[in-house]
Amino acid sequence: MSEHTMRAITISGFGGPEVLTAQRIGRPEPLPTEVLVRVHAAGINPVDWKTRAGQGMAGLQTLPLILGWDVSGVVEEVGFGVTTLAPGDEVYGMPWFPRAAGAYAEFVTAPSRQFARKPASIGHTEAAALPLAALTAWQALVDTADVQPGQRVLVHAGAGGVGHLAVQIAKHLGAQVIATAQEPRHAWLKELGADEAIDYTQRRFEEVAGEVDVVLDLIGGHDATNVRSVAVTRRGGLVVSIPSGVSDELAAAAAKAGVRTSPLLVEPDSAALTAIAGLVDSGALHVEVERAFALEDVAEAHRLGEKGRTRGKLVLDVTR
Ligand SMILES: NC(=O)c1ccc[n+]([C@@H]2O[C@H](COP(=O)([O-])OP(=O)(O)OC[C@H]3O[C@@H](n4cnc5c(N)ncnc54)[C@H](OP(=O)(O)O)[C@@H]3O)[C@@H](O)[C@H]2O)c1
Repeated sequence: MSEHTMRAITISGFGGPEVLTAQRIGRPEPLPTEVLVRVHAAGINPVDWKTRAGQGMAGLQTLPLILGWDVSGVVEEVGFGVTTLAPGDEVYGMPWFPRAAGAYAEFVTAPSRQFARKPASIGHTEAAALPLAALTAWQALVDTADVQPGQRVLVHAGAGGVGHLAVQIAKHLGAQVIATAQEPRHAWLKELGADEAIDYTQRRFEEVAGEVDVVLDLIGGHDATNVRSVAVTRRGGLVVSIPSGVSDELAAAAAKAGVRTSPLLVEPDSAALTAIAGLVDSGALHVEVERAFALEDVAEAHRLGEKGRTRGKLVLDVTR
C-alpha cells in the first residue's frame, strides 16, 4: 500500500446489499508485469451480488473484499517489465477472475496482459459493461460451440447482460438467432439481430423454437430451462449451460437425446477483448447500459440487478 488513498466499496461479511460499505483505503501498487489502472467505470454482474450474498465465487475470496471484475479506465502506472501498455492508455478488462479484482474502487492493479485497449468509439461507462458479459458470450459461441454460418442458435435471457451481446455475436457469426425475453423487449432484440423472439411467459419455448444447433442457456435450472432445452436441440447439437453448469438431470436428458452439453466459466482473455473491441468499433456490437450509478450508490444498483429484469447492463460510474 502506498501513502495514497482511494475510495472503495468493501464488504467485511457476506450478506444483503447493506454490507456494501464506502471507505477510504490504501491504493494498490503494481508488481512487476502489472499495471495500475485508474477506474473510470466498473460493470456490475450477477456474480457480484451472488458473491456478496455468500454464493457465486464467495468460497474463493478472503474478507474484507472489494467486489467487481469489470473495469474500464486509464493506465496510471506500469510495473517493471510491462512493454505493451503505458501511462495514459485507455484499457478495459475483467482481470483476475475468479480471484478478486476489486473493481468497485478508484484503482485496480492486475497483470497487464489481462487488459486490452478499450473500444475507441464508446465511453468508459459503456466499455465497463462489456468484459465479463461479452467474454462469456464469446467463449461460449466462438470458442466452445464454434458457431457456423446458417446454424440456429437459441439464446435464453436474450435481453440481459450476456444475452443481448450473445444475440449480436451469434448474428455476426452468420447464425439464425432465436432469443427468449418478455414481449416488450422483442422489437429491440430484433434491432440487435434476433430473427425470432419468444415470450417465455406466454409460450413454452420448446413448442415454438424448432430445431436448433446451439443453445446458450443463461437461466439454468429455473423452470427446468436447461433440461427443456434438450428438446429443441438437434441430435449432435450443443447446450452450453452457463449459470450452474451441467446438472445430473440435464446430463441424463442430453445423453438420451444424443445432445452434447458443456458448462463454462468465463476467463480473462485479452485476445478476445481485442476482437470484441473491433466488433464494437465496426458497429457490429452495441452494448446497452440501462443505468449508471455513482460508486456510493452500489447497494441500490445491486437491489435493482437482483430483480433479474435488467435490459442490458448496470454500471458504476467511479468518476462521480
Ligand atoms: N458461468 C459464467 O462464467 C457466467 C458468466 C456470466 C453470467 N453467468 C450467469 O448467467 C446468468 C445471466 O447473466 P446476465 O448477466 O445476462 O444476467 P442479467 O443481465 O441479470 O439477466 C437479466 C435478464 O434475464 C431475463 N430473464 C429472467 N428470467 C428469464 C427467463 N426465465 N427466461 C428468459 N429470460 C429471462 C430478463 O429478461 P425479461 O425481463 O425479458 O424476462 C432480463 O433481461 C446469471 O445467472 C449469471 O450469474 C455465468
